[in-house]
Amino acid sequence: MIHLAVNIDHVATVRNARGGMQPDPIHAATLAIDAGAVGIVCHLREDRRHIRDADVYALRHDLLTKLDLEMAAHEEIICIAEDVKPELVTIVPEKREELTTEGGLNLAADPSRFADLVQRMHAHGIDVSFFIEPNSKQIEIAKNIGADIIELHTGTYAEATGAKAEEALNHLITGGSIAHELGLKVTAGHGLDYHNIIPIKAIPGLVEVSIGHALISRALFTGISQAVKDMIFLLQ
Ligand code: PXP
Repeated sequence: MIHLAVNIDHVATVRNARGGMQPDPIHAATLAIDAGAVGIVCHLREDRRHIRDADVYALRHDLLTKLDLEMAAHEEIICIAEDVKPELVTIVPEKREELTTEGGLNLAADPSRFADLVQRMHAHGIDVSFFIEPNSKQIEIAKNIGADIIELHTGTYAEATGAKAEEALNHLITGGSIAHELGLKVTAGHGLDYHNIIPIKAIPGLVEVSIGHALISRALFTGISQAVKDMIFLLQ
């Protein structure tokens, strides 16, 4: 059984469009959990374009299930994570000008910095996931520096069609297999939707997917509960 974690960033995007309090991302999170999601993901970006600090603290306070704080390895956000103590942090690359996270982290660029981050999080009882490409070198570094989880970047697969999508899926399958054999927990996310989710289930050891945009988009028409249930049905 592959579990679903719901990313609520885009509920905050709509809220922030008018500067008020509606729609409330915390309300969306509770509906998603009630409908069967195992956890809630939110990305506290350096520019705070969607989720804000107060949202993270409110989620920590209100949610009885897993909170996954997606974040860049920036000192200011690391300190917030140490204070909030989510069950999990997912470390992603972050560029100010990007529309959404583009590509996986390059752990090889500075393994000792990422190793220090793992130690800091573990000291607070927080698990660490690295969002990486399905690349053996990145997976091995993640293992060596003490990661608990790797989240495989599915963006290339999601954007491709035909033979290119098949090739990208094969990379994900190989990456999942390497990570699983190394004893890492494997999750996946980015660009997953109601059409491309089924083949993803072939990734060895895959325990969870993290989905935001497609799910929140569907929720505009069906409501969040139904959108979550529809995805869980496809994951079963
Ligand atoms: N996983 C990670 C690491 C992400 O950065 C994102 C986007 O915030 C997602 C999953 C969810 O991607 P999407 O919104 O395309 O479903």
